[in-house]
Amino acid sequence: MRKVPLRQSLKVIERGTRNWVADRPLVVSFEVTDSCTCHCRHCDHGGPRDDSRNLPAAEYRRYMRELRPCVVQVSGGEPLLRPDLVEIVRQIQDGDGLPYTILVSSWSLMTDALYLELRAAGVDQFSVSLDFPDERHDRFRSYPGLYSHLEDLVPRMGRLGYDDIVLNSCITSENLGEIEALADRAREWGVNLCYSAYSPRRTGCRELFPASPEQLAELNRRLDRVEARRDATNWIVNSRSTLDATRRYFEHSGMPGCRAGQRFLVVTADGALQPCSMQFCRYPLEERGRMIREFTRHNTCDQCYVSIRSYLDKSFPQLLWENVSGFFSVRT
Ligand SMILES: C[S@@+](CC[C@H](N)C(=O)[O-])C[C@H]1O[C@@H](n2cnc3c(N)ncnc32)[C@H](O)[C@@H]1O
Ligand code: SF4
Ligand code: SF4
Repeated sequence: MRKVPLRQSLKVIERGTRNWVADRPLVVSFEVTDSCTCHCRHCDHGGPRDDSRNLPAAEYRRYMRELRPCVVQVSGGEPLLRPDLVEIVRQIQDGDGLPYTILVSSWSLMTDALYLELRAAGVDQFSVSLDFPDERHDRFRSYPGLYSHLEDLVPRMGRLGYDDIVLNSCITSENLGEIEALADRAREWGVNLCYSAYSPRRTGCRELFPASPEQLAELNRRLDRVEARRDATNWIVNSRSTLDATRRYFEHSGMPGCRAGQRFLVVTADGALQPCSMQFCRYPLEERGRMIREFTRHNTCDQCYVSIRSYLDKSFPQLLWENVSGFFSVRT
C-alpha cells in the first residue's frame, strides 16, 4: 500500500493528536446514500431506498468544518449511486491534503473514468469489497456479473500504478476457507488486501459468524499462513495487532471497549450523527457532546470489530506507532 507523503502524514498526525485530546472524532464515515445496487447476505442494506432527504453535496463542507476528522470514509449503501459523488468528495477536502479519504464501495458501478475523476477529486484509498475469489461473490451479493466486472477492472486500475486500491474482505463462516485464496487474488490483481470481521448485529444472522471450535481453528490456521506472507510493501493492510484482535473477537464472540461516537462516528445520508452504522440513536450535528455523554460513556455493545473500530480501539501511542510505521511516511 502506498505510503502517504510526508507533508500529508504530518498533517494527519497533527490533527489526529489534537482531536484525540479534544474528544473530536479521528474518523468520520459519511454514508452518502442508503440505497444499494446489491442485496448482500450479511448486510441490512439492499436495493433502492428513499433518497429524497439526502444531504446535498455542498452541505458536506459544513460537517467537515464542525467535525474536522483527519480520516474520512465515504460509504453507504452504495456511494457510487450518488450522481454527485465526485462533488461530495471535493467538498470534503480542505485543500491542504486533509482529510485522508477512503471510498468504501462494491465497485458495481465503477468505471475507468470515474476512478480517475474520484482520485483527482481527493480519494486517497479505494476500498473494494470482495467476499469470494470467484463467482460465488455474485451469489453472496445477489449481483450477477459483479466478479467478472471486478476481475477486469481492478487489475487494470491497479496497473495504472497509483497503489491506492485495497480489497476489503469481510470474514464470515461462508468464506473462511477462502482467506488465503482472497490474498492470492489481491496479489494476482496487483492490489492490497484488508480483512474485516462479520458482525451479526446488522441482520441478526448468527449462522454467518464462525464460532465452532473447528471454524476457529481453521480461521487461526489460515490467518497464520497469511501472516507469513507479509512483506515490506504493506500489501496486507491490517496490522498484526489488528488481525490478532480479530481472532480474539471471533473466539469470544465480541470485543468490549468500543468508543463509537467519540473516536469515530457516522453521518447518515440525511445528515444525522450516529455513533456507528449499527446503533440507530440519532443526534443533530451541534449535539455531538450529548452523543458522547448519553451513548459512548455508557456503551457496553461489543457486537462488531469492523475496520473503523479496529483502527481506533488502541491506545494513542500504539495507534500513532502503527500508522507512522505502516501508512504514513516518517522519511521523505
Ligand atoms: C456496508 S458496506 C457499504 C459500502 C459498499 N456498499 C460496499 O459493500 O463496499 C461497507 C462494508 O461493510 C461490510 N459489511 C456488510 N455487512 C457487514 C456485517 N454484517 N459485518 C461486517 N461487515 C459488513 C461490507 O462487506 C463492506 O465491505
Ligand atoms: S454490503 Fe454494501 S453492497 Fe452489500 S448490501 Fe450492504 S451496502 Fe449494499
Ligand atoms: S461494537 Fe461499537 S461500533 Fe460495533 S456495533 Fe457496537 S457500538 Fe457499534
